[in-house]
Amino acid sequence: MSDPFYQLQWQRLDLALLQQPQPEVWICQLHCAVPSIAGNKWLKLKYHIQQIQQHNKSGILSFGGAFSNHLLALAAAGQHFGFSTVGVVRSHQPDLANPTLQQCRKLGMQLQFVSPALYRTKTTAMLLAELQQQYPDYLIVPEGGTSAAAVQGVAELPLAATPNGPADLLCCASASGGTIAGLIVGSNGTPVLGISVVKDASLSQKISVLLPEPASQWHWQLQPELTNRAYGKFTAETLHTCLELATQQIYTEPVYTGKALHTLLQLLARGELAPYRRIAFFHTGGLQGLAGLRYRSLIRDADYCKLSGAN
Ligand SMILES: Cc1ncc(COP(=O)(O)O)c(C=O)c1O
Repeated sequence: MSDPFYQLQWQRLDLALLQQPQPEVWICQLHCAVPSIAGNKWLKLKYHIQQIQQHNKSGILSFGGAFSNHLLALAAAGQHFGFSTVGVVRSHQPDLANPTLQQCRKLGMQLQFVSPALYRTKTTAMLLAELQQQYPDYLIVPEGGTSAAAVQGVAELPLAATPNGPADLLCCASASGGTIAGLIVGSNGTPVLGISVVKDASLSQKISVLLPEPASQWHWQLQPELTNRAYGKFTAETLHTCLELATQQIYTEPVYTGKALHTLLQLLARGELAPYRRIAFFHTGGLQGLAGLRYRSLIRDADYCKLSGAN
C-alpha cells in the first residue's frame, strides 16, 4: 500500500574493505515528514494512530526506557496528528535534563516515572488495569510499539525491492521483535535475519507469537549480535564501524542499527552469508539516541558530530 507520509532511500554499502567477493548489501532508510518518526517508528505507529482516530480515543499511552526512541517518536506523532500522549518511563530518578525526555515533554508528552521493579510488571494485568483506569480514554500500546498493529504496518515495507533487483535476504536489528515480525509477514518467502541487540532468551518466542501462522511456516532466523554486550552497551569496535559507515554517509548509532550492522559485517567477513546475492538491511532509525549517548559521556562530542552527520 502506498503511504505518502514517508519516502525510502536506498544506499549500497561499499564492502571493498572485506576483500573477498560478497553479496551486495543495500541499506533501506525510511524518511518521514516528521523526522523523529523515521525508521521503523512510523510503520509501528501508523495503525495504532488509525485505531484511536476510528474509536475517537484522546490519546496513546506507552512504555519505554529513559532514552527511548519509541517514546520520542510517539510524542512527535502526538504533536503532529493532534492526539495526547503519555509515556511511562522506566527510571529510578526522573532526570528531566535527559535530551530524550526533554524533547518528549516539549512535544507535549505527559511523563510518568516508575521504578524498574514496578516497570518489570508492566504487562501484568493489574498494572495495565490501573493505568487504563487512570487514562480511560487512551489506547495502551506495549513497549517499543510492538503489537499486531505494528506488525501490520512493518509488513507493508517493500524491503526486498532494492534498486538493483530483488533481495534474497532481509535483515534488521531486533529488540522487542515487532519489526522483524512485520518483515517476516511482508517477506513473500524471502528469508529474514534478525540481529538481536538485546540479551533476551525469550525473543524468538515473542516473535513467534506475533506471527499470524505457526513460526515454522516462515523463513526467518535470529542471530545474537556478536560482541556479546548487554542491551545499550557497545564495544569500541562497534563504534568504529559506525564511524566507518558515517564516512559512506550511512549514519547509525551503536545501540541498534550500528550494532546490528557490525555483526552483519562480521558474518560477511566470515563468509557465512556467501550463499546470498543481495541483502537488504532495514535502517530502523534511532539517531536521536546519539544525543543521550553524548549526554552520558558514552561517546565524545566529535564522534557525535560524525555519527549524526553534522560534519
Ligand atoms: C532504532 C531502533 N532499531 C531497532 C529497534 C528494534 O525494533 P523491535 O523492538 O521492533 O525489535 C528499535 C526498538 O524499537 C529501535 O529503536
